[in-house]
Amino acid sequence: MRAVLAFLSLVSCALAISVTKPNASQGWVLNASNNTVSWTSVSTDRANFTILLVNQNTTPAFQQILVALRDTSGGSTAVSLPNTVTAGSGYRVNLVQDTQNLNSILAQSEDFTIAPASTSSSVLR
Ligand SMILES: *[C@@H]1O[C@H](CO)[C@@H](O)[C@H](O)[C@H]1NC(C)=O
Ligand SMILES: *[C@@H]1O[C@H](CO)[C@@H](O)[C@H](O)[C@H]1NC(C)=O
Ligand SMILES: *[C@@H]1O[C@H](CO)[C@@H](O)[C@H](O)[C@H]1NC(C)=O
Ligand SMILES: *[C@@H]1O[C@H](CO)[C@@H](O)[C@H](O)[C@H]1NC(C)=O
Repeated sequence: MRAVLAFLSLVSCALAISVTKPNASQGWVLNASNNTVSWTSVSTDRANFTILLVNQNTTPAFQQILVALRDTSGGSTAVSLPNTVTAGSGYRVNLVQDTQNLNSILAQSEDFTIAPASTSSSVLR
């Protein structure tokens, strides 16, 4: 219970940054070059953050840093997915304080799906 309350207060004092993409209706494609993270922010937000990809639906839970340090300004960045990422649902993008504080979540996307890469014709037999 104490852990839950601590988590809630952590989130509520940092609600200003908000992830708009990816979201439940528009996810990512495994090795597409156009996967992006978009967010909105206000001037009082942290100047930078770390972009973390998580999936609590897998065992063990998946967690991968996509961008170690990103300026809050700009509102959008392209990301490339490392080959440890597999297609599936239940993914979330967390914007966290920095690489030393992955549990200090500033903002979290909706659950979204990563679709398999479209196979090229050379793979057909
Ligand atoms: C998901 O993101 C897309 C692209 O930014 C946007 O057009 C759409 O309205 C968003 N959907 C929801 C439910 O937020
Ligand atoms: C996606 O992955 C497939 C299989 O690994 C590869 O053949 C293809 O070139 C990749 N496409 C891009 C855009 O990276
Ligand atoms: C990426 O590009 C593909 C092909 O143009 C498109 O189908 C897909 O919706 C795009 N994805 C995003 C996240 O914009
Ligand atoms: C990241 O943001 C924090 C808080 O806004 C700031 O103290 C720090 O200097 C920034 N780091 C870099 C590398 O910009």
